[in-house]
Amino acid sequence: MKGSTSLDPSEWISGLLQTCVADGATAFDLACGSGRHSVLCRDLKFKVTAFDRNSDLKVNFENLGIPFECVDLESGVWPLTGKKTDVVIVSNYLYRPRLLEIFSLVANDGFLIYETFGIGNQRYGKPSNPDYLLEPGELVELLPSGFKILDEFFGETINPSPAIRARLFARRDGSL
Ligand SMILES: C[S@@+](CC[C@H](N)C(=O)[O-])C[C@H]1O[C@@H](n2cnc3c(N)ncnc32)[C@H](O)[C@@H]1O
Repeated sequence: MKGSTSLDPSEWISGLLQTCVADGATAFDLACGSGRHSVLCRDLKFKVTAFDRNSDLKVNFENLGIPFECVDLESGVWPLTGKKTDVVIVSNYLYRPRLLEIFSLVANDGFLIYETFGIGNQRYGKPSNPDYLLEPGELVELLPSGFKILDEFFGETINPSPAIRARLFARRDGSL
């Protein structure tokens, strides 16, 4: 059986996205890299926009037919002020000072899908800098009221390679 690679979409994210699909739903893929999750969103008929600070990615996204915005998510001024979307995806990226701004992008009844490395990943390799590693329960503690936690995980995973991963799937309750 063929194992997954780090270039394939995350199996966890892939499974969740199928549950979020709705006519006309929008998605943001933050710190998108080569766009493995943007492509998945596009194929699932989301109106997806990809964001990354790496301007070299622009051509790649033009070829993919996916809107791309070159933004620095860590710059002095938050570049996405006033924007909202039905699904926010963050994968393998962490910049703690902007977590609340990232959560604020989730529209009423929208979803947050966050998966990155966790503390303890040092023993498997990189990332090993604690600045890039979530603590257990850290995202949940920061989550504003009005979000309902649908899935949460912290621990060792085997695929696509052994690592400590932290995952959060949450929905903003639009009735609150
Ligand atoms: C490890 S890659 C993850 C890519 C993608 N999310 C994935 O899981 O395949 C981290 C990405 O974060 C982007 N990045 C790093 N710092 C950033 C910043 N300040 N603003 C926007 N993107 C940033 C990098 O350019 C890179 O594409």
